[in-house]
Amino acid sequence: MGWVDKRIKPSEITPEEVFVRRREIVKSAVALGLIPGLASESFAAVLPAEGDRLENVSRWPGSLDEEPNSFEDVSTFNNFYEFGTRKEDPSRYAHRMKTDPWSVKVTGECSKPGTYTLEDILKPHALEERVYRFRCVEAWSMIVPWVGFPLGDLLKRFEPTSNAKYVQFFSLADPQQMPGIRYPVLKWPYREGLRMDEAMHPLTLLTVGMYGRVLPNQNGAPLRLIVPWKYGFKSIKSIVRIHFTETQPETSWNMAAPHEYGFYSNVNPNVDHPRWSQATERRIGGSGLSALLSPRQPTLMFNGYAEEVASLYTGLDLRKYY
Ligand code: MTE
Repeated sequence: MGWVDKRIKPSEITPEEVFVRRREIVKSAVALGLIPGLASESFAAVLPAEGDRLENVSRWPGSLDEEPNSFEDVSTFNNFYEFGTRKEDPSRYAHRMKTDPWSVKVTGECSKPGTYTLEDILKPHALEERVYRFRCVEAWSMIVPWVGFPLGDLLKRFEPTSNAKYVQFFSLADPQQMPGIRYPVLKWPYREGLRMDEAMHPLTLLTVGMYGRVLPNQNGAPLRLIVPWKYGFKSIKSIVRIHFTETQPETSWNMAAPHEYGFYSNVNPNVDHPRWSQATERRIGGSGLSALLSPRQPTLMFNGYAEEVASLYTGLDLRKYY
């Protein structure tokens, strides 16, 4: 991940209404039989279509009361290297990814391994909207209302054994749908991992939506992690496999540049990235002069979630285990 500080041109932004309207047009066209090849079951899945409003979402009381970024900021300035390395590539190309049907393979140290459909995964869980600060390792941040439920509630259902000390996640890696897979910028499939106690922490969110709507593909539909006290790259997108393991698993960024990206990757203003400081961050967003003038602000320890998570790391040298 280099330092990329590229502004999106206003002409490249899809406003939320246009985005949603586009879905409506596609839906009507399918209903009228104008678009062949898309079976009606595409819209009878467990999640509504991309961009549709999610029902029965409760508000989580711990949300930040900061003004969220705009939907446009969060859906057009993305890192999803499977679709290219430029910030605008995912919003341009991710519509090629088919998210329905979707299933997740569960493997390793658990009593209930198997292949679970998206419906199996989501059905028992109530959705919450949680406004979190999202801090990218590239020293920018956003405020995002994610929709999801605690990952731990799902992991428990697979009955991890006492040997499960870590959990690893893998993204979809399909060169037919993901043009970026052609380039060996990272080890594909994209993989990430958490220590079991981090994965079970109530702040760790298995995420299906944002801004009350189904996740846009570029933000990691249909299922992604959000780990709010860690740098954004831990928040793996479009998950197709969950693997319980006894030993610390491989993670794509650590494999690519181990001295730059550690396994823990906790947001920490006191430990700089070898190529830039992490002491401050810039809130992305806005346009024109207001964006150019957006001031840098201090990075918060554990991204502002120290009270909740610092105890997970008691006795761990956070300089060594960055
Ligand atoms: N997941 C996959 N599969 N591929 C990626 O390239 N990028 C990561 C993370 N998850 C990435 C990924 C990085 S570097 C960041 S900062 C966040 O996704 C960006 O999430 P956003 O696009 O929703 O802001």
